[in-house]
Amino acid sequence: MSTDTIFDHHAYKSGLRREWREAAPGWQRWLEVLEADDAMPQVGRSLLEAVRPGPGDRLLDVGTGYGEPGLTAARSLAPGGHLTLQDLSGEMLALARDRVDAVDLGDVEVAIIERDADQLELTAGRLDGVISRSVLMYLADPIGSLIRLRAGLRAGGRLAASTWSGPHEVAMAAPVPVIRRLLDLPPPAADRPGLFALSDPERLHDVVTAAGFAEVELGTSTAVFEFTSPAEATRFLRDCAPPVTALVDDQPPEVRERVWERVTEEAWEPYVGDDGRVRLANRAHWVAATNPG
Ligand SMILES: C[S@@+](CC[C@H](N)C(=O)[O-])C[C@H]1O[C@@H](n2cnc3c(N)ncnc32)[C@H](O)[C@@H]1O
Repeated sequence: MSTDTIFDHHAYKSGLRREWREAAPGWQRWLEVLEADDAMPQVGRSLLEAVRPGPGDRLLDVGTGYGEPGLTAARSLAPGGHLTLQDLSGEMLALARDRVDAVDLGDVEVAIIERDADQLELTAGRLDGVISRSVLMYLADPIGSLIRLRAGLRAGGRLAASTWSGPHEVAMAAPVPVIRRLLDLPPPAADRPGLFALSDPERLHDVVTAAGFAEVELGTSTAVFEFTSPAEATRFLRDCAPPVTALVDDQPPEVRERVWERVTEEAWEPYVGDDGRVRLANRAHWVAATNPG
């Protein structure tokens, strides 16, 4: 086996932590674009419609980042509900903490937990719902993690999670082939965690079924990010998309800048409107399922 076929779990996790630590200020800066009504909230609504959290429920948001879609769900947990916001990145969770502090959630209790979803230990049967937006594909062991999440759900408890579709349906990833070509990078290794690791809905279905969930349903929703210009779209990507920026991180600064210039010139072209604005439509697959107990 050649060294590039070996998955170094430890290096992957420390890279992931570093990438999301570095991306946290960007997620704060671009919150309005990310949380515009037809952007990430579209995907969040699909998940919440599938789980239907209600008064008194205990809900867990896995890989919550800046607190979504858990915080959107929080009000429906009153009175007496409990929300856990969990993520591997303390820096992303600091954004979630600020957002929790800025809203009145009544008597809903909020716990913020910094932990790797691949190592979650939950009290058995206590949760009514688990949601997770744009995270499962980064897990090193998605089936194992889903088994543990299922154990944390009561019988009849609901799961809903989303992943991104393939590169042809995710416009924000348009720079990836441009970067690979310019830097002569090899294609990504198959079966590794990453942005498109669970982009095939059949695989998403299989992973959730293999974890013992029942009534597994699939659906799609689309998040649109809009920018005033191609340069702004590139700035957003550089600030917010660690799986993409990681491709250029090892390059000397002048090479990095040249690559980003080419990205601005080429990658967004199909998405520029007559008004010069860039509109990136990104399709997500979601899966919803029930813990049969
Ligand atoms: C694309 S962001 C999504 C954040 C949020 N769910 C949203 O939709 O706005 C991915 C998040 O997953 C987190 N993450 C990645 N791998 C994780 C893991 N193994 N355990 C917990 N969180 C993880 C990252 O730290 C990051 O905050």
